[in-house]
Amino acid sequence: MMPRDLLERLTGLLGPAAVLAEGPDLEPYAVDWRKLFPGKPACVVRPSSAEQVAGIVRICREAGAAIVPQGGNTGLAGGAVPDASGTQVVLSLNRMAAIRNVDPVGLTLEAEAGCILKVAQDAAAAAGRLLPISLAAEGSATIGGVVAANAGGVNVLRYGMTRSLVLGLEVVLPDGTIANGLRRLRKDNAGYDWKQLFIGSEGTLGIVTAAILRLLPRPKHSVTALLSVVDPAAALRLLELAQDELGDQISAFELISATSMQLVAKHAGLKTPIAEGEWFVLIEAASSLAGLREAAEAMLGMAFEREIALDGVIAESGAQAAQLWALREHVTESEAREGKSVKHDVSVPLTEVPRFLHEAGEALAAGAPGTRVNAFGHLGDGNIHYNVLVDHGHDPNVVNRIVHDMVAAFGGSISAEHGIGQYRVGELARYRASTEMELARRLKRALDPESLLNPGKVLLP
Ligand code: FAD
Ligand code: MLT
Ligand code: ZN
Repeated sequence: MMPRDLLERLTGLLGPAAVLAEGPDLEPYAVDWRKLFPGKPACVVRPSSAEQVAGIVRICREAGAAIVPQGGNTGLAGGAVPDASGTQVVLSLNRMAAIRNVDPVGLTLEAEAGCILKVAQDAAAAAGRLLPISLAAEGSATIGGVVAANAGGVNVLRYGMTRSLVLGLEVVLPDGTIANGLRRLRKDNAGYDWKQLFIGSEGTLGIVTAAILRLLPRPKHSVTALLSVVDPAAALRLLELAQDELGDQISAFELISATSMQLVAKHAGLKTPIAEGEWFVLIEAASSLAGLREAAEAMLGMAFEREIALDGVIAESGAQAAQLWALREHVTESEAREGKSVKHDVSVPLTEVPRFLHEAGEALAAGAPGTRVNAFGHLGDGNIHYNVLVDHGHDPNVVNRIVHDMVAAFGGSISAEHGIGQYRVGELARYRASTEMELARRLKRALDPESLLNPGKVLLP
């Protein structure tokens, strides 16, 4: 039970409607999307301004109550939910959801942290511009969450991670200070670029209350194709051909295994329109110049001539493109419906992906027989979701160790885009050099010496 005076002070600051103290209303804020980390909030607070966020931080700091910032709670590393102690305050940004400004000439969009990513994408599109952060959770994920997680998604190979799209941030620090860096400048070398510290810090260093994001001109034409290939090595040859023929117009290059497609068919009832295969590649290219479709058709022809692709289709309409994308976007949910999986959001050097997939498969067959691999992801940037379907007879720690040791052997990362949260906090300490971990702890101590923000996430307590 949270201390009465803390509840009274928070209610006094925010009003009773913005403080959830008990009952079923708390549930959506208490458990992560994967239902791996059932937490117990002391309460949930829903501020409507940066000033209110700052007031909450000051009150909680005086009361010694930790704060867990939460956006859309779609994170896959358990970073946005409290522990089970009943002492942590969940601070939801979902009432701070305004789009403040869209500048189609200066190519900027300013939004509050709780703004849903899809709403921001649509605001950019309405102005004829593109906000190229695209992930299957975009209907619930928030601007603050994608900044705090430095989210990746399907367009990274062309536009970079969220980090590369952030121009300015407003952040409430663990002492209640509001740091306002909401500048729309493309170039600003005046002093430390401190916003970088908060991008990808997963709510452990500061609370993002607003952001200014960089927009791109919206390409007039796009083309989407689904091809089947014999193996990941052929998928890489297809990437090379696509780069030769479509250049930097490629905006997505997704690898999808047969297992992924079987799960989507089983749980979402969606089937691929091309002949069955072992591996599939979904390619999207976009450009404002004419001739994109012709170039894509020529590329497809070459892929067949050179026996790189077994089968393939180019979407004839926006609706058909959406059908092809639905196959990819339903993989995560279909996997969740299939049962327990040990997720690995890994990246290895791009050209090593085929060998990694092979070696990791061999190691799992030897070390964790009976597991099934659901491999898919953003091949174009070397990020594979190497998710291992397990049953009660498998030890997730054994599976984790096999896969992450293999990632380390390939010089890869154990978290390409989902972050560490609480899900991988032990793994980070194991695979990152002690000097890097000590530097991270120093930064945490400098900004949040009382470990007020999101304790237990990213860094071991
Ligand atoms: P939350 O889950 O609420 O929070 C995420 C982290 O950020 C937590 O540590 C939280 O404490 C912190 N946080 C949230 N808001 C703030 C704030 N305002 N200030 C400070 N800290 C904050 N991710 C990818 O990168 N690429 C993908 O392709 C992808 N696909 C997904 C598909 C599905 C179906 C699902 C369910 C998730 C997927 N994700 C993906 C993961 C998730 O959508 C992203 O991590 C997203 O950025 C989380 O946004 P959110 O608003 O839900 O954040
Ligand atoms: C996605 O790309 O769909 C998610 O990041 C992957 C996952 O669910 O593991
Ligand atoms: Zn992903």
